[in-house]
Amino acid sequence: MSSRTVASRAGATLNPNPKKMSKAKIVLPEVGLLKLVTVEGKGRGVVANRPIKKGKLIEAGPIIRMKKKDKIPKDCVLSNYPFEWDDKPWNRAFPLGWAGLLNHSDKPNCKIECNIEGEVLEITATKSIAKGEELVWDYGIKPWFDVK
Ligand SMILES: C[S@@+](CC[C@H](N)C(=O)[O-])C[C@H]1O[C@@H](n2cnc3c(N)ncnc32)[C@H](O)[C@@H]1O
Repeated sequence: MSSRTVASRAGATLNPNPKKMSKAKIVLPEVGLLKLVTVEGKGRGVVANRPIKKGKLIEAGPIIRMKKKDKIPKDCVLSNYPFEWDDKPWNRAFPLGWAGLLNHSDKPNCKIECNIEGEVLEITATKSIAKGEELVWDYGIKPWFDVK
């Protein structure tokens, strides 16, 4: 039996305003570059399928901008994912690309930058990354979990 089912959306209706279309400057990762894996003690994580050169822009991924009123309660699993976003009235951004899946390390090999104008989160390699190595970045805040 197939483990796939037809998807159904669960949520409120979005009312798009065609005059305010997103300007998102998305850069997709190269096909097959990244792999989602289970990492002991961390849940899921992202590893390189092939070597990645220092300085490479790996992804500029889309986001959902969030306002103060969109605050996610701390006991909700989704609260682990938003990024700070300094573009009033938006103060958080929910990642829709790979950025939300990268784990924390105080010895990072990537950085993630908010491109406010481009409405994307940019993942860049700050070191050469070997095939099979996990992509990690420094969350920049005191971790709210036991760091492995
Ligand atoms: C933004 S998510 C990263 C992706 C997450 N591992 C997943 O499976 O969806 C942040 C969560 O990942 C886990 N995490 C991230 N870095 C970790 C680390 N160095 N050690 C242990 N857990 C980590 C924590 O549970 C944290 O709440």
